[in-house]
Amino acid sequence: MSGTATGFTVNGTVMHAPAPGEIEVLPDALVLVDGDGTIDAVLTAGHPGYARARTSARNSGTLRQLKEGQYLLPGLVDLHIHAPQFPQIGKALHLPLADWLQQHTFPLEARYGDVAFAERIYASLVDTLLANGTTTALYFATVHIGSSKRLAELCLEKGQRGLVGKVAMDNLDECPDFYRDASTEAGLAETRALIDHVWSLPGNGHGLVRPVVTPRFIPSCTDAMLEGLGAIAAEHGCHVQTHCSESDWEHGYVIARHGKRDTESLEDFGLLGRRSVLAHANFIDDGDMDIIKGCGSGIAHCPLSNYYFSNAVFPLRRALEKRLHVGLGTDISGGPHPSLLESCRHVINASRVLEDGVDAASPAGGRGVAGSHVDFMEAFWLATAGGGQALDLPVGVIAKGFLFDAILVDATVTDSNLMVFDDLDTAEDVFQKIVYTASRNNVRKVWVHGKLVVDKDGKPGAVHS
Ligand code: GUN
Ligand code: FE
Repeated sequence: MSGTATGFTVNGTVMHAPAPGEIEVLPDALVLVDGDGTIDAVLTAGHPGYARARTSARNSGTLRQLKEGQYLLPGLVDLHIHAPQFPQIGKALHLPLADWLQQHTFPLEARYGDVAFAERIYASLVDTLLANGTTTALYFATVHIGSSKRLAELCLEKGQRGLVGKVAMDNLDECPDFYRDASTEAGLAETRALIDHVWSLPGNGHGLVRPVVTPRFIPSCTDAMLEGLGAIAAEHGCHVQTHCSESDWEHGYVIARHGKRDTESLEDFGLLGRRSVLAHANFIDDGDMDIIKGCGSGIAHCPLSNYYFSNAVFPLRRALEKRLHVGLGTDISGGPHPSLLESCRHVINASRVLEDGVDAASPAGGRGVAGSHVDFMEAFWLATAGGGQALDLPVGVIAKGFLFDAILVDATVTDSNLMVFDDLDTAEDVFQKIVYTASRNNVRKVWVHGKLVVDKDGKPGAVHS
């Protein structure tokens, strides 16, 4: 985004969650966005500069006026998603994790050696995520360098904030011969090549798209690979992502192989830093949480996939109490839904199930973990500001200094399950209803880094800020 672009001002009701458990509704606010896509100011009606700012934007033709029933929310941050698994969404979820990987997922991911195949799927995925309001996604690609590069390019072309990792898998004992890195050295060299490629993409000067060091999980990597990736992460200061303590099987595998827990092992290999995101982390104990907190790393909670693969639910309340960085992931296709709003609902549900327990044959009060539940405000914070914090990126809040990644949610569209009754619903009720019932069709416009990248009500081909 060049510094010469003109800024603009959005006028309408803002809804966001600036802190866990805290929502803010700003009726008739002015959001001033500068030419670089950063929020310059958010003015509410009582502000002394409000009238002048509104008139000035109107006179310069840069006022974007929301209609009655439309709301401006921060864009959604998907902290964990497997791009190549998009065609598998809604399939093969009857198997445990290890069998699902070997029988379905690795054969599908192996097809991305064909860049034309990757192009078709990845283009459709990025469009789908943007249409659902996902403005930032932290992607696992596959072991293939060609299609991983293409995913990064597609994010840039379509205007999505994309963090993309070429997956590292070199352990002959756990990876099939048809799907793994050619060698440890080749996997490390291609990880470096992706980093160089992404940073040199024309038009990526402001880092809309970023490379990610991506050991799939400890079982799929040799110690030499893990050590080499830790060194690359330190050298480049880039993001790191992996799966951590996801299931009984995976958690037990690491203890059997390394004689320690996932977090200890990852830390020893230099893979836990401020920009590391651990997917799942269901089996972490207080010691693991202390390690993660000490390293400043983040966790991608993926409640929907937890139901299928994890034999447990992530201890979210404990993590929030310890002030760990936590956000939400869809974990496509372990989680069979592309919408982060859907993930919000599952965070709430999973936390309620954890709190109450589910075995009716056990006595009440002895079925679950007391105090575990979270509400819609915490869920929405996780899906926005929490994700931004985990990634160390200024996104997820509509406030001065944050990047303008935002969605327009329209409660007036007729083909929708979001029902607002003006005489019955407060603004806070509407926010809660959006989190519980809005869907793709309610997301009408999407901005990323100040650029309008989806406009479902605009004239075809006329997408501008
Ligand atoms: N662990 C290693 N690979 C995967 C994957 O693709 N999905 C999930 N949910 N867990 C994994
Ligand atoms: Fe995953």
